[in-house]
Parts: sequence; C-alpha cells; structure tokens
Amino acid sequence: MQQQNRRNFLKNGTALTASVVAASILNIKPSTAMASVNTYNPPKKSVRTLGTGKHSVEVAYGIGLGCMGMSFNRSFIPEKAPMIALIRKAYDMGVNLFDTAEAYGAFTNEVLVGEAIAPFRKNITLCSKFGFDIQKGKLTGGLNSHPKHIREVVEASLKRLNTDVIDLLYQHRVDPKIPIEDVAGTVKDLIAEGKVKHFGLSEAGVENIKKAHAVQPVTALQSEFSLMTRDPLTDVIPVCEQLGIGFVPYSPLSRAYLTGYINERTKYIASNDNRASLPRYKADAIVANWAIIDVLTAFGNQKGYTAAQIALAWLMAQKPFIVPIPGTTKQAHLQENLGVANIVLSAEELQQLTTAINSITIMGDRYATPQTK
Ligand SMILES: NC(=O)c1ccc[n+]([C@@H]2O[C@H](COP(=O)([O-])OP(=O)(O)OC[C@H]3O[C@@H](n4cnc5c(N)ncnc54)[C@H](OP(=O)(O)O)[C@@H]3O)[C@@H](O)[C@H]2O)c1
Repeated sequence: MQQQNRRNFLKNGTALTASVVAASILNIKPSTAMASVNTYNPPKKSVRTLGTGKHSVEVAYGIGLGCMGMSFNRSFIPEKAPMIALIRKAYDMGVNLFDTAEAYGAFTNEVLVGEAIAPFRKNITLCSKFGFDIQKGKLTGGLNSHPKHIREVVEASLKRLNTDVIDLLYQHRVDPKIPIEDVAGTVKDLIAEGKVKHFGLSEAGVENIKKAHAVQPVTALQSEFSLMTRDPLTDVIPVCEQLGIGFVPYSPLSRAYLTGYINERTKYIASNDNRASLPRYKADAIVANWAIIDVLTAFGNQKGYTAAQIALAWLMAQKPFIVPIPGTTKQAHLQENLGVANIVLSAEELQQLTTAINSITIMGDRYATPQTK
C-alpha cells in the first residue's frame, strides 16, 4: 500500500515537474494550459488563397505537398511505388497543391510527380520551376533564366510531368544576368499560349518582386521561411501583402530540424543532401539551437501536438495568405502535417510562443551564400 502511494507520488511528481519546466520556458500557467480540451477532429480542408483574382489559386488545408525529398536532397531516395502511393494518398486526403522543379533529381522528381498525379491531374495545382543551369542531367551550380532557355525548360517539363499546362511556374532563383522584366514577359507569353497558368518567384527580393509583378501579376513567392529563418517577415511578406501575392514557405520545418527528428549525430549522404553543406546543420549549430526544439515540444505537449505541428502552426498564424509546403516521404508525417489545419492558436498563445522563440539566437546561416536577390 505504502509502495503504491509512493509510486503514485513519483508519477504525479514527474508529471508536475515536466509541466512546470514547460510552463517556465513558455511562461504558461500550467493549470490554464491543461484546462483546454483537445478533442480529436479530422483535419479540416479549410482553404487558403495564393494570389489575387484571376491570378489566384485555392489551396486545400492551406498546406501543399513538397515532393522534392522523394527524389532529391534528403539523403535516401525511397522506392518509387510508395512515393506514388504517398502522393495519391495526399490527394485522397484532399491535398490539391503539389510542388516540384526540373532541378529536383535533376528531372527525376518531375517524372515521379507526373506519373503520380496522372489520375487526378485536372483537379490539382501542379507547381514546377525553372532557372538553374543543368548540363547532362547535373546541376552546374549556375543559373539560367534566358528567355529561350525558359521556353525549352517548359517544353521539357510539360513532357516529364505528362501534362499540357503547368499551373504555377516559378523562377527558382533570380538570375542577375537577365532583367526580371524579361523573365516575367516570357512567362506572360507562355500564359497567353496556354502552357502555363500562373507565375511565381522564389527567393526574389522586394525590388524584383515589384518589377516582375508590374509585367505579369505574381501568384506566389516561394522562399525559405520557418522559425529558424524569419527574415521574410520584415521585408518580402509585407510586400506580398501589399501587392496581393501569396507566400509559400519552403523548408517550413527547416529541413526536418524543427521536428526534433535530426540531431548532431545525424549522418547525411553528401551526394544527395544539401544539409551536409549548410552551416545550420553542422553538429555545433544543431546543439546550440536545440532550445527552439525544447520550446516547441513544451508548447506542443501542453496542447497535444508535436513540435513539427507547432512549427507549422506558428508560420500559418502569421498571415492568411501563407501556404507552407512541408516535404515528407511518410504517410504518418503527411497526416501529422495536415492536422495543423485544425490548430487554433489564441493571440496570447501566439505571443507567448513568439516571445519564447525570439529569446533564442539562432546559430549558423541557412545557406553558405545569400539566396535572395
Ligand atoms: N524554392 C526553393 O528553392 C526550394 C528549396 C527547398 C525546398 N523547396 C520545396 O519545399 C519543400 C519542402 O522543403 P524541404 O523538404 O527542404 O524541407 P521541410 O519541408 O522543412 O522538411 C522536410 C523534412 O522534414 C521531415 N518531416 C516532414 N514532416 C515531418 C513530421 N511531421 N515529423 C518528422 N519529420 C518530418 C521529412 O522527412 P520524412 O520524409 O521522414 O518525413 C524531410 O526530411 C520541398 O519538397 C520542395 O518542394 C523549395
């Protein structure tokens, strides 16, 4: 009996300690946080809109599926059949925006996505990108947005994607050699010819966004934005809001870091993983930045959500035109990520989370060289 009581005491004591630690990081009163009811609701297919008027697309859940990691840059390359099944499962669950690029593979990801979406092609928004220099199937590290090259890429992408139109075509990186007006003008012509429906930019800076938008209205800006990379909040997101352009955060989970699934012992296959060369994924930076995982975990534990879900919910709470595209190769993670559509953060919770995160200084740049131009 005495032993039983002691066991209960220890159990209760452990639970109390964990909640107090969480509460102290986030400054939440444990009693208040625990009182909130976390009923299970299947993910809502609430819609977010990228872009304005006839240049807009509607995105179910307000979340798209990033397909890059199924073929490229995330170390292992899973077998094709389960990835096709994953993309089709996403569609069955209501996902209607899929993101790829000619550079992913190179080329192989477009082929995979093209095959996977064939049964429901007309019902989704298919996004791809041009802009990198690719020779004999290999990225050279250079850029190429020459108008003639854009046209060649679009023809090749249409074949690989097994379709007659790309719904949202992004310039992958601003090419300083080609005026952005010429790029926008080329995409405008492709839209007039029916080969492309909408125009997007990736990692474009404020001036280039404005110049491009004046030639061909931009539907979405796709740039890195996560709790580890918050710079877009200060410049490009306000411009998107002003011009009615949607914002698509790429690497919204900071390439898995914010999920807590990778750590300082994680090994990357350098030939197929850019994290091996990115400063933020070096072991010392991984350890130094871990406080952010602690905050997300503590906050999520109070509400019954994972660190990954809280990281995505924080992004989506910033603006209603923000549509993240988390990448995954796992059905379980897909379901988890779509579950974010159910998360409602009160103004107070959002403020607590933001304050806790702002107190952490992030070590390590996101890339070794600046990307935004
Ligand atoms: N425009 C650009 O320059 C650019 C650059 C990079 C990426 N992108 C686009 O953005 C998409 C996403 O970016 P990303 O793949 O770099 O980064 P991300 O979405 O931030 O992270 C993807 C990684 O997180 C893991 N993950 C996802 N959900 C998870 C969950 N719930 N729990 C645990 N782990 C989870 C995935 O592993 P599992 O497979 O194990 O789930 C994967 O390794 C890409 O697919 C691509 O379409 C665009």
